[in-house]
Amino acid sequence: MRTFAIVNRKGGVGKTTTAVNLAYVLATSCRMRVLLIDADGQANATGILLPKGEYAGLGALLRGYAICYDELTVHTDVEGLDVLPASEDLWALDLEAVTSDPGRSFRALRDLREAVEEDGSYDVIVIDCPPNLSTACVSAILASDAIIIPVLSDVCSTVGVSGLVEQIDDLRSIQPTLRVAGVLFNQWHRAPVVDDAMTTLREECPVPIFDTVIRRTDKVPESSWAGRAVQAWSPWCSAARDYRAWVAELLKKEGMVHE
Ligand SMILES: Nc1ncnc2c1ncn2[C@@H]1O[C@H](COP(=O)(O)OP(=O)(O)O)[C@@H](O)[C@H]1O
Ligand SMILES: [Mg+2]
Repeated sequence: MRTFAIVNRKGGVGKTTTAVNLAYVLATSCRMRVLLIDADGQANATGILLPKGEYAGLGALLRGYAICYDELTVHTDVEGLDVLPASEDLWALDLEAVTSDPGRSFRALRDLREAVEEDGSYDVIVIDCPPNLSTACVSAILASDAIIIPVLSDVCSTVGVSGLVEQIDDLRSIQPTLRVAGVLFNQWHRAPVVDDAMTTLREECPVPIFDTVIRRTDKVPESSWAGRAVQAWSPWCSAARDYRAWVAELLKKEGMVHE
């Protein structure tokens, strides 16, 4: 079992798109059993993969209200892909952490991962993180084997990567095996500014960068607007194909076999 968290302190860089595509491709093309955990109170991944509705989601788990993770997971219409939804009550967690046992929510996702491992219920967990190092995000990082950092292909977006990597390094004192799997360029397009951004990051980046880049296409926002995964909405658009190629690269680099 492998757990990946999709992390960047910036919003709008493609975390949710990457989490949803990774989970979708692993479940469909690779026939793996996948749990996507939505750790962002905005619940964008939940909105893409599940029908509208009220879900007792990750907030309940992090507060210690759920007896077991399978009370909270919901099947999607994709075989092999389940979601542990986000709920709006995730916003309040950071405030509550001031007064309650601060370690509780950090332990909850690590406990979930151990329980999943013991049950053998999923091959991969993918966690979509919020754009800050909130309680939910740190809990996600601490429950993960490897972090994937999507960045926009512009110079501004690449600036924060070293700082984020340092913060992830600090968390290694609690989770010693934590790694950054790599940085993924998103919204790539042919422009000098994109070349500059990629050159800068390749020179300065302290962690691996994936060879595959995800191209910019209007099909992605169109699919988000329609509340669908781009793999289902437009499977042959550039970004959908790039995500499939990237998942193959990731599995190879992570030494994960699939049929
Ligand atoms: N490859 C892409 N091409 C075009 N638009 C994209 C691409 N990837 C993401 N987007 C759009 O960018 C916006 C932010 O993406 P999202 O995955 O929600 O980022 P985050 O989760 O980091 O906030 C969304 O409107 C999404 O549809
Ligand atoms: Mg998001």
